[in-house]
Amino acid sequence: MNALAGKRIVLGVTGGIAAYKAIEVSRRLVDAGAHVVPIMTDAAQQFIGSTTLSALASEPVQTELWDNATTPIPHTKFGQTADLIVVAPATAKLLAAYRMGYSHDLLTNTLIATRAPVIVCPAMHTEMWEHPSVVDNIDTLRARGVHVVEPESGRLAGGDSGAGRLASPASILAAAERVLGPNDLAGATVVVSAGGTREPIDAVRVVANRSSGKQGYAVAEEAAARGATVTLISTVALPTPHGVTVVPVETAAEMQAAIEERSASSDVIVMAAAVADFRPSSAASGKIKKQDGVPEIVLEPTPDILAGLGANKPAGQVLVGFAAETNDLVANARSKLIRKNLDLIVANDVGADRVGFAHDTNAVTLLRPDAKPVEIDLAAKRDVARAVINTIVEIRASTQTGKD
Ligand code: C5P
Repeated sequence: MNALAGKRIVLGVTGGIAAYKAIEVSRRLVDAGAHVVPIMTDAAQQFIGSTTLSALASEPVQTELWDNATTPIPHTKFGQTADLIVVAPATAKLLAAYRMGYSHDLLTNTLIATRAPVIVCPAMHTEMWEHPSVVDNIDTLRARGVHVVEPESGRLAGGDSGAGRLASPASILAAAERVLGPNDLAGATVVVSAGGTREPIDAVRVVANRSSGKQGYAVAEEAAARGATVTLISTVALPTPHGVTVVPVETAAEMQAAIEERSASSDVIVMAAAVADFRPSSAASGKIKKQDGVPEIVLEPTPDILAGLGANKPAGQVLVGFAAETNDLVANARSKLIRKNLDLIVANDVGADRVGFAHDTNAVTLLRPDAKPVEIDLAAKRDVARAVINTIVEIRASTQTGKD
């Protein structure tokens, strides 16, 4: 189950142009299984009507401190019953009122009357975001434990651009997951590789494979949501998951250098990338001409990055490989697990329907040297990633206990 499922989340919407994006945030929270209680300020209602948000949240929008139809004590009810409060967008005015405890409307009352964690997602013009009063309010709120999802840089409502644009709904969701999640990888350094490598034949052609990188990205996103510091060594350009540092690479050699540079200081390495097993032994510097006839391309093996990591594994590091197979799935994966000195291998039958490359779903078998295989039935890649990270957390816990 994901960290948001079954959680009661108050979504506060204040009066900024970005208020319309709160509808998408609400929809995604509901999709993740949360119960969303929307509260809009008066100013927010100048920007968007409450009807759409009421329809897409889990209950109708609340606006009234007085004569509230739902409860006689609205100023405390919503805050006391929340598991999390998210304010998106949060205006400079809301930040100032919250900082001062100036509880003049339903949303500010709710923020003051809660012990639940709070995430504010500021959105405003760059001048306002950088004003010392706003900077000071943000610093104070942060020091009190309020989580801040910083605005992004980009085009603003006035047509100008700069810092101040509301963070993406995906970033806001990731922050909520991080706050409500078990945080069981806090303090861990995790490296994940993703995508298929591309090995040059000449200046324009490559030897490539069908890996989309989606499963690796999902593993990186889940690890970050669980509190890890995550570096993703990637050959593809998917949206960067919130809180993850992406290092772009193209070839097996570049991937090897990027991983080996970080391997000694990594607590967990997940090799989800489909690394080419063979590459052209030399790449032509220009484009090979058609008129010159069919070229003979001589291949040589690439270094097995994972086997190298396994041979030099530092004590306590958890090393995870993937095995894409079309037959004898478990037997082949188990032999790789042992041969490459891994702690876990994620085996997927890439010949099966809706499994593996390019799909948004996957079905895998998790194999460890000393435990029974665990089958994860067809599920979203993010759910598969959760199962992988759960197993990594279990392995870390067992090695930690072993050390005591
Ligand atoms: O042996 P095989 O290529 O099937 O093993 C798959 C696993 O090994 C994957 O985790 C993949 O990332 C890794 N691998 C590697 N370097 C290679 C080939 C595969 O790290 N040259």
